[in-house]
Amino acid sequence: MKGKILVTGGTGYIGSHTVVELQNVGFEVVIIDDLSNSTAGVVDQIAQITGIRPEFHPFNLQNLDLLDAFFEQTKGIGAVIHFAAFKAVGESVKKPLSYYRNNILSLVNLFECMDKHRVNNLVFSSSCTVYGQPAQLPVTEQTPRKEAESPYGNTKIVCEDIIRDYTKANPRIQSIALRYFNPIGAHPSALIGELPNGIPNNLVPFVTQTAAGLREQLQVFGNDYDTPDGSCIRDYINVVDLAKAHVVAIGRLMDKKNESAFEFFNVGTGKGVSVLELLNAFEKATGQKVNYRIAGRRAGDIEKIYADTTKANQVLGWHSAASLEETLLSAWNWEKKIRKMD
Ligand code: UFG
Repeated sequence: MKGKILVTGGTGYIGSHTVVELQNVGFEVVIIDDLSNSTAGVVDQIAQITGIRPEFHPFNLQNLDLLDAFFEQTKGIGAVIHFAAFKAVGESVKKPLSYYRNNILSLVNLFECMDKHRVNNLVFSSSCTVYGQPAQLPVTEQTPRKEAESPYGNTKIVCEDIIRDYTKANPRIQSIALRYFNPIGAHPSALIGELPNGIPNNLVPFVTQTAAGLREQLQVFGNDYDTPDGSCIRDYINVVDLAKAHVVAIGRLMDKKNESAFEFFNVGTGKGVSVLELLNAFEKATGQKVNYRIAGRRAGDIEKIYADTTKANQVLGWHSAASLEETLLSAWNWEKKIRKMD
């Protein structure tokens, strides 16, 4: 056994894939998740994939008494990976206080408990949203952050600032923030994947639901951008590759290989892909036609962004591995599985 890792949000989309990868390399995992955007059945699925059932505690991190009692009971935690957060951009515009309360208080409570119970290492889920529309592409970690477009995006900026300030004030605590680009796909077993609530906001779940017949038509939000085919460009990263970046970051903190108390890394493929290119790749990989039409631009969308991953490649020794096609096929296999189309 390599050590015990607390994964908050461990039954969510990226969290569940990370729990699997941690267990695959011998870490013991304890999950805290309030199931606000996931189900307890994910723990069964993780157990089916890995043969190991992670310990699971269903509560919300805003509850400091419960969190403190959890740390009191659970000895030997070597590091925390903090995924638990609200993440819907549009909802955050309508309910900013709920986003600030949940996303910020959860981190503050975690740090208070980590300090009290002598747990020193934190990996944090950040996002390329902190860069806004960058002036230069690809985006490096030196690219300045921009004022956030949404309360959700602002919680990522504020949480990064809290980590920066707290690791300065408390030298025992060390942290790595991973700035994700666009995570897509599912575990190759099709036992875990993304489970959007209601109508998906994100592109790939909308694509797979349209191909599965749950949605009539996909809208491509804009074909008049300053890009080769006019549709927006993103850096779509396979969720299992992304999960593995967390395992490497945990190893770096636990082995004390980090060069400063707070490090951050872009996690993407380094390749920009347009919405129309992604649709083509999906049809090629799966043989499924997707009914779509060109619609107007979506408010708040960034025109193009993709990562410079040199720092993650060289310093973490992490590289993305999966192709776009295999990743889209995994998303389709997951959609078929949950819709019982096999
Ligand atoms: N898109 C469509 N039709 C859809 C959905 C999306 O054309 O039905 C397009 C969007 O316009 C965008 C691309 O597909 O060009 C990707 O959109 P997503 O909603 O999947 O992802 P975003 O890049 O907009 O948002 C993601 C995360 C956010 C995060 C943001 C950071 O979902 O949490 O990246 O840039 F804040």
